[in-house]
Amino acid sequence: MVVVLSKVLVQEPQHVPFEGLGVRTFQGDPDINTWLQVREHSFANALPPIRSWSPDDFHREIKNRHWWQPERTWFAEMDEGSGHQQVVGTVTLSMRRPEQPVVHWLAVLPAARRRGVGRLLMVQLERECWRLGHRRIVVESETGWREATAFYEQMGYEQIA
Ligand SMILES: CC(C)(COP(=O)(O)OP(=O)(O)OC[C@H]1O[C@@H](n2cnc3c(N)ncnc32)[C@H](O)[C@@H]1OP(=O)(O)O)[C@@H](O)C(=O)NCCC(=O)NCCS
Repeated sequence: MVVVLSKVLVQEPQHVPFEGLGVRTFQGDPDINTWLQVREHSFANALPPIRSWSPDDFHREIKNRHWWQPERTWFAEMDEGSGHQQVVGTVTLSMRRPEQPVVHWLAVLPAARRRGVGRLLMVQLERECWRLGHRRIVVESETGWREATAFYEQMGYEQIA
C-alpha cells in the first residue's frame, strides 16, 4: 500500500556538513548506470520488491519526463581515501503538475546507511525547492518500507494518506 507524506518548509533548509561526504548533480549519460546501480543495491531487500530497471527505463521514467533536469538528480559521494569518491546515494526532484515538488527515488546503499547520507540528499532537494519558491514537498512510499517512513518522519514529513 502506498503511504503519502508531506512537509511544509518554514525556513530555508540548512546543510549539516559531514566530513568526507559530498554531493553533486547528474553529469551525463555515464551517470545513468551509476544511478541504476545505486537503485538496484539500495532496494535489493525491499518488501514489496521493486522491478529491476534498464537504461531504457531510466530514459522513459526520468530522463524524458517534462520535469527532469540534470540539476534535479543528486548523488552523494563518500571519500574513500586516496582522492577516490564513491557514489553511495541518490535522490531526484520531480515536479507533478501543477508545480508540486515530489521526492523521487531516494536511495542509499546499505553499507552507507545511518551516516547522514539520506539527510544530506534531502536537504539538497529541499534547498532547491526553497530556491524555486516551493514550500510544500510530497513523497510517496510503501507502508512496507518502514525504514523509509521512519527516515521521512525524522526529516519532518507527516503522513497525509
Ligand atoms: C531510507 C534511507 C534513504 C535512509 O538513508 P540513510 O542515509 O540511512 O539516512 P540517514 O543516515 O540520513 O538517517 C537520518 C535519520 O533518519 C532516521 N532513520 C534512518 N534510517 C532509519 C531506520 N532504518 N530506522 C529508524 N530510523 C531511521 C534516524 O533518525 C536517522 O538519524 P540517526 O541515524 O542519527 O538515528 C535508506 O534506508 C534507504 O535507501 N532505504 C531503502 C530505499 C528506500 O526505502 N528509499 C525510500 C523510498 S520512498
